[in-house]
Formats: sequence, C-alpha cells, structure tokens
Amino acid sequence: MQNTDHSPRDGFGSKIGTIAAVAGSAVGLGNIWRFPYITGENGGAAFILVYVFIVLFIGIPVMLSEFTIGRRAQRNAFGAFRLLAPRRPWYLVGVMGIAAAFMILAFYSTVAGWTFEYLRLSLVNGFKGKSPEELNALFENFYTGGWRPVIWQVVVMLLTGGILLAGVRKGIEKYTKILMPMLLVLLVILAIRSITLPGAMQGLNFLFRPDFSKIDASTILEALGQAFFSMSIGMGTIITYGSYIRKKDRLSETAFSVAGADLAVALLAGIAILPAVFAFGIAPSEGPGLVFITLPNIFQHMPGGYFWALMFFTLLIIAALTSTISVMEVVVAFISEEFSLRRRYATIIATIGVTFLGVLCTLSQGPYPQFSLFGRNLFDLMNFSTANIMLPTGGLFIVIFVGWFLGRKNVRDEISNGGTMKVRLFNIFLFLVRFIAPLAIAMVFLNGLGILKL
Ligand code: PFF
Repeated sequence: MQNTDHSPRDGFGSKIGTIAAVAGSAVGLGNIWRFPYITGENGGAAFILVYVFIVLFIGIPVMLSEFTIGRRAQRNAFGAFRLLAPRRPWYLVGVMGIAAAFMILAFYSTVAGWTFEYLRLSLVNGFKGKSPEELNALFENFYTGGWRPVIWQVVVMLLTGGILLAGVRKGIEKYTKILMPMLLVLLVILAIRSITLPGAMQGLNFLFRPDFSKIDASTILEALGQAFFSMSIGMGTIITYGSYIRKKDRLSETAFSVAGADLAVALLAGIAILPAVFAFGIAPSEGPGLVFITLPNIFQHMPGGYFWALMFFTLLIIAALTSTISVMEVVVAFISEEFSLRRRYATIIATIGVTFLGVLCTLSQGPYPQFSLFGRNLFDLMNFSTANIMLPTGGLFIVIFVGWFLGRKNVRDEISNGGTMKVRLFNIFLFLVRFIAPLAIAMVFLNGLGILKL
C-alpha cells in the first residue's frame, strides 16, 4: 500500500521501544485502579476467569487486527479506514474511536488527577495515623470537594500535551521504556506485603476460588469492557500506534508481549489490593475509590511506608500518563494528518477540547451532580459507555474488517512482514477474527445490554 503522505512519518525506533510504548498505553489506571474494583464489584475469581478467556480469544485477535490495519495504512485511525476502504463507510469506526478517545480522556484524567493529590498527601505524610474509616472520608471529601480535583486534572492534561509535543520517538518511546519496568517491580513488592497481612486469606479466596453463581450476563459484559479498556483496544489507539511500528518488527510478538504484560499487571494489582481490602474491613464492592482507600492503609502497615507510598503514586502517575498520551495521540494524529495541521497545533487543539469535557466530568462527581444523563453522572456515564459499549462495538467492526474485508492475502502479508517471516498460528488467528471474536462480542454485548436473552 502506497503512503501518499510525503513528509517522513515519525515512528518508533526499536523493538523494545515499541513494546514499551504499546504496553505503556495498555498498562495504566485500567489495571491498577479499574481492574481491582470491577473485580470486587463482580464477585472475584469467576470474573477473573472469564476475563482471562476474553483476553486470549477476543483481546489478542483484536489487538493484532488493529496493528495490521495501522501498519498497513500508515495512518491515524480515521485515515487508515479511508485509505484501506475508499468510499465505504468503514471510516465511521475511526470516527467512533476518536469520540471514544475524548470521552475516555475526560474521566481518565479525573482519576489521574486523583493520583497527583495522593502523591501530594504521601509527601506531607497525610495518611499517617488515620483509621480505615478516616481514609475513606478523606477520599470522599477530596473527590467530591470542588476545584482541587479539577486543578490536578488540568495538570494531567498539560503534562500529556507536553509529552506529545515532543513527538513519538523522543517523547512517547523514550519515557515509557524506563518507567514501565519500575512499576512492575514495585507492584510485586506491594502484592507481597498485601498477602502477608493478617486476614489476607479471605481476599485470596475471593481472588482465586471461583463462585460461578456470581456470573451473569452483566458480569460477562463487564469483563469484556474491562478487557477492551485495559488493552487499549476497540478505538484506534492500537491502529495509531501500529502505524508507528517498523516494517521489520513482528506484530504478533508485540501483541502477545503487551497482552501478557497487561494481564500480569492487572492480576498483580488485584493481588496487591483485594487481600488488603479484606484485611482492613473495606467492602470489595466499594467502587472507584477502592484503590485510593486501600493503598494508604497498606502503606501504614509497612516499614518505610512513607517511602513506598511516594514511589507508588509516582509510578501510578507515570502509568496513567503513558496511557493518556496514547489516547490523546489518537486525536492528535487524526487532526494533524486529516487537516494537514502542524503537530503542535493539533496537540493544542486536542488538549483544550479534552480538558473542557474532562472538567465537566470531574465536577459531575461533586458540586454539580446535575451534569448527568440516563441516571448516571457524567463521570460514570463516560466510564461505562466507553468501556462497555463503544470499545466492544469498535472491536467488533475491526475484526470483521480484518477478517472479511481486508483480504486474506493482505492480512497475511502484513503479519508476516511481506512473507519474510513464518507466522505459525495464522489460520487460527483468521478463524478467531472471522468467527469466534465477532460472534462472541456480539453475543456478550446484546446479552449484557438485555437485548438478547440467552
Ligand atoms: N489501557 C489503559 C489502561 O488500562 O489504563 C486505558 C486506555 C488507554 C484505554 C488507551 C483506551 C485507550 F485507547
């Protein structure tokens, strides 16, 4: 496929840098903040089993499909569909992705802002001597409390815009390569502390002893949404990043490595958080505040807790930023390529637009609950509708596009780097994207929304 854009395109410079950048996108608040509380709300171990299945049979095929589209087209998520399917409505998948990027950033930047406040609190030793109830109240008062969360959110958006101004290789790739491994090590340490707390056993049972009576249609939809959200798939982020991958790197290897890292971090976060939830008598179904209430409790029960807290929240901020930049990149690449605008202007426009929606989201959590629709405040609405509706819908069309439209030869050519490489599981991949993934997504989706009763 010819690249008609004559300016040389920025892109990732190495294999390891590519994996770090894509893993940087995937690993984020979705793993450490969202996964533990969604698991807590959905009954634990059985949910996790469903989740792992979805990652393997739906998540990885969708991710590889997105890589294929992006690298083949060398374009942003919208432009890629326009180029590969001229005069057909497939570009609408790109449009939905760009809308989802806005909506995700709106609430994600709120939570990323919370992590900044928690870093500040760790610095001033603000958790010290507080009971679990007091830590609970601390969180409630903060996030409902008006402008402070908004200020942190603006800080997040400015940092995200700032990194993006530096470009793909010198911005995205350079930072993610160092920071992701550090996060992993720290999580392992926290997980060990958590499972050795008195009373942690109940949490381990919750995580690893499946109770299948807890599984219903809505649980499976939550698992699907969580997998899409966590893997950054279904909205063109991976298409966009795929377009930056060198032609000689292996797409399937990248997809497997990233999916593995993403799953490992989510499970580790579950192991770090849920046993502590039980040990400190917090309800696992506490919701979005779970991590922010549990972790300060753990830190108080660790030698050197002050230090660990500082480190943890710093890394959480980094994990969040390596994800926010990837979501924002979807918008920036779209604006700059489709409207032939300088990257700098595209970044400024995207940052302003997203911040506006984001501030509304943050305020809907506290002083302005009237910012709501369909009985959910804006924050909850964006969180639920992107993960559980827009991303799976996007993913459905993406696998159908690759499985049925792009052409077997083209797909094989892209995944095998022009036939220079053996791709062992190609037929299985094709079977998954043609039949299993679309059917499974459609069924979970219709069933979960109550449109189809199984
Ligand atoms: N995968 C990120 C996380 O788990 O925190 C969030 C995210 C990034 C979702 C990029 C969607 C996306 F396109």
